[in-house]
Amino acid sequence: MTRIRPSVLLSSLAVLVAGAAFFASPALAQSGEERSVLDGVYSPEQASFGQEVYEAECALCHMTQEFTGRIFLLSWSNRSVHDLFRSIRSTMPFDRPGGLTDEQYTAIVSYLLKLNDFPEGDEEMKASEEALSQIKIEPPPNQ
Ligand code: HEC
Repeated sequence: MTRIRPSVLLSSLAVLVAGAAFFASPALAQSGEERSVLDGVYSPEQASFGQEVYEAECALCHMTQEFTGRIFLLSWSNRSVHDLFRSIRSTMPFDRPGGLTDEQYTAIVSYLLKLNDFPEGDEEMKASEEALSQIKIEPPPNQ
């Protein structure tokens, strides 16, 4: 049985890793789909609708301070808006998880973005997994 020398294995591994890094990064950059909450991803009307839903469905048990500030942003940073949406939809309202429509959950998330001073835009966030997954959460530059 022929044995492969460890040094040969190691150097082929290094080539593989370098190759993967080379192909992975430009692919992400070129897709052009990736957006961030800094890009104005929700509309003002959507955030006010979200506020109405929040006040009717969430404010009984929560204070908005729970969803703003450094801790909140640090814990959601580098995840997508869809991660936040999905987490809220699968657990809240506490007494009937998933009880609202996807549009209502998306509006609540846009209201939370507004509370965190992320900019409004001209278009509303689409309530689809595909659209929400493309928006990355990151702290505003001053955080
Ligand atoms: C009946 C009370 C109640 C209502 C209504 C309610 N929540 Fe909650 N929420 C809770 C409780 C209790 C927890 C803590 C659950 C746990 O840790 O398991 C929680 C946790 C959360 C968390 C996670 C916080 C963390 O630190 O991870 C989020 C986000 C959240 N709620 C958002 C909402 C939103 C948005 C709504 C409205 C759609 C809502 N909640 C409605 C009681 C409620």
